[in-house]
Amino acid sequence: MSLHRLQVALGERSYPILVGPGLVQGTPELAELAAGRQVAIVTNERVNGLYGGPLRGALSGASACITVMLDEGEQHKDWASLNRVFDALLGAQFDRRCLIVALGGGVVGDTAGFAAATYQRGVDFVQVPTTLLAQVDSSVGGKTAINHPRGKNMIGAFHQPRLVLADTDTLASLPPRELSAGIAEMLKHGAIADPAYLDALEDDMARLRAGDPAALAAAVLRSCEIKAQVVGADERESGLRAILNFGHTFGHAIEAGAGYGQWLHGEAVGTGMVMAADLSHRLGLVDAAVPARLKASVAAAGLPTQGPNWAAERYVELMSVDKKASQGIPKFVLLRALGQAVVRTAPAELVHQTLRACSAAH
Ligand code: NAD
Ligand code: GLY
Repeated sequence: MSLHRLQVALGERSYPILVGPGLVQGTPELAELAAGRQVAIVTNERVNGLYGGPLRGALSGASACITVMLDEGEQHKDWASLNRVFDALLGAQFDRRCLIVALGGGVVGDTAGFAAATYQRGVDFVQVPTTLLAQVDSSVGGKTAINHPRGKNMIGAFHQPRLVLADTDTLASLPPRELSAGIAEMLKHGAIADPAYLDALEDDMARLRAGDPAALAAAVLRSCEIKAQVVGADERESGLRAILNFGHTFGHAIEAGAGYGQWLHGEAVGTGMVMAADLSHRLGLVDAAVPARLKASVAAAGLPTQGPNWAAERYVELMSVDKKASQGIPKFVLLRALGQAVVRTAPAELVHQTLRACSAAH
């Protein structure tokens, strides 16, 4: 399998995404960024055990290299983990020329990225995503954040990485549930931007779920292309970028309401997309075939298609904290066709109908 290189085009903040095998063992781009600098690898015990050794080998040109270990899981994307990074950086006397390298899934990437955005008013960082979800989505685009008990990703900053190394070999150690979670974000990219990609994902579903390296690498590449294009057009989400939140208004409510870590982010996005497609149909934007197809794709990916058994009012209260909400009124990313998304509010009665239709029976 070969190495592919994409560029996120953001003027002076542009950076490459490398997709391919063997990248945790090092690349010239990483060696150049690390040369002579203090480097902190932020990771967790599991990922460090798998890939920390080779990555440290790739950073031999650093003037110092420390490893900061975070606790595993969405419930640890919080102030305590962020502070652990700051404590380690300050304890090792890291200065503002230091480099942070995030090695892990989206939890590590978002937390380490936010630490990089704020340590001494901002330092460079590199993303080395090791989950499918992080390779196809969270490592690209510069959204960094921690959660607040009342809402997902509520405390954060835009801070672009200098380099993304998506080593597709690392996907071999992912459990099936985590592969499915990553497929949710891939289906999202197809649904909002590229119906032919959605077709290909549906055709390849068995190979993707089985961890077939070629199928996964092709999908990582296509998802990164789509994400890089959207981010390049609207870095700070003043408009277009909001489409990347398809399924997230409902999904974030499920994650926060169930308790972080109960539903994987990708699982909540999968069910959230089913809900958003259902609402699109109730608004007359698409015919019934669109939600039916998306529900079938989400189910085929091994993801849940029904939300928790909560009253609609509970969902609506949780959704009022979403970042797209305006003065507590939630907005939804909806489909007006496969491959075309729109952002808008919806009448409360239709939202309630969707929630009743798409959550487990009361
Ligand atoms: P995660 O970071 O919790 O990782 C999932 C699990 O896989 C963890 O237990 C982790 O230790 C383990 N793991 C990581 N790499 C592994 C490997 N190669 N082999 C075996 N196990 C491995 O979850 P995630 O799905 O990667 O990320 C979810 C997070 O990403 C959420 O917090 C979500 O909000 C965020 N996110 C951010 C953006 C963004 O634009 N910043 C986009 C999408 C999602
Ligand atoms: N995952 C949403 C975004 O990157 O904008």
